[in-house]
Amino acid sequence: MLIEDTVNYIKGKTNNFNPEVALILGSGLGEFADEYCDIVLKYADIPGFEASTVKGHKGQLVFAKIAGKRVVMMQGRFHYYEGHSIQRVVYPVKVFKKLGVKNLIVTNAAGGINEKFKASDLMLITDHINFMHVNPLIGPNDDDLGPRFPDMTEVYKKDLQELALSVAKKLDIDLKKGVYMALSGPNYETPSETKMLKILGADAVGMSTVPEAMVANYCGIKVLGISCISNSAAGITGEVLSHQEVIEAANAVKGKFKNLLFEIIKNI
Ligand code: HPA
Repeated sequence: MLIEDTVNYIKGKTNNFNPEVALILGSGLGEFADEYCDIVLKYADIPGFEASTVKGHKGQLVFAKIAGKRVVMMQGRFHYYEGHSIQRVVYPVKVFKKLGVKNLIVTNAAGGINEKFKASDLMLITDHINFMHVNPLIGPNDDDLGPRFPDMTEVYKKDLQELALSVAKKLDIDLKKGVYMALSGPNYETPSETKMLKILGADAVGMSTVPEAMVANYCGIKVLGISCISNSAAGITGEVLSHQEVIEAANAVKGKFKNLLFEIIKNI
C-alpha cells in the first residue's frame, strides 16, 4: 500500500477538501466531531486504514469546516496495544501531512499522576516521555517527510500552548499543564509502576498520543496536545481502574472540552 493511494482515495471522496487542521479524538472524546459531520469516511473503507477495535471509538474520518477552518477529525485512533504495528498507528499522520495539514491537535484520556490532578481535569501537554519501548521513526527514512535524526526539543509548540492557555482562561477553564508519559498498555499500571513514572517526571500516563506527536513533529506539523484526566493512576487513591470509568470521566468533561477545542480551532 502506497501512501499516495490513501491520499488519492481521500482527495477523491472529499472533493479535494485540503484540511489545514487535524484533530485526533481520544477515548470518549469523539463526540466533538458529531456536530460537524460534513463528510464521513469509515476507516474500514479507506485503503491503508483498518477498523478500530476499541469501545468508545467510532473509527472514522470526519471532514468539516469549523469556525472557518478546514478540519479533518479522527473519531478514534489506532493503538499499539490493539496489535497494530507502530507504523499503522502513525500512518494517518503521514497521510495528513500529504493532505496539507499544518496543525495537529491530539487528545486522549489519561491517568493523573500529579496529585494535584483529579478526574475530569484537562491537561495541556507540555512535553512527553516515550516509554512505549517502540519508536515509529525506526526504519528507512522517507526524506520527503522529514529528517533521519529529528529534533524533539519542542514537540508541543509553545505558541499553540499559549493559545490554548489563553483560550482556556477566556472560557474560565482551569487548564492544567504537565508531561504525558506513554506506555504500551493495554493494562493499567501497578501502584509501583505509578511511583516509578512519577519519579521519572510524568504528570499523566496513557497509551497513545506519543507516536502520533513524534511523527507529526518529524514531518513539520505543529502539535498541540490535550489530555482529559479520567482517573487517578493506580495506587494514588487505592481505587480499581476500569475503561467504563475512563469513558464516564470523558463524558463529564465533554461540554468544557468541546468549547475549548472550538475556540482553539477558531484562533489557530
Ligand atoms: N493509565 C494508563 N492509561 C490510561 C489511564 C491510566 O490510568 N487512564 C486512561 N488511560
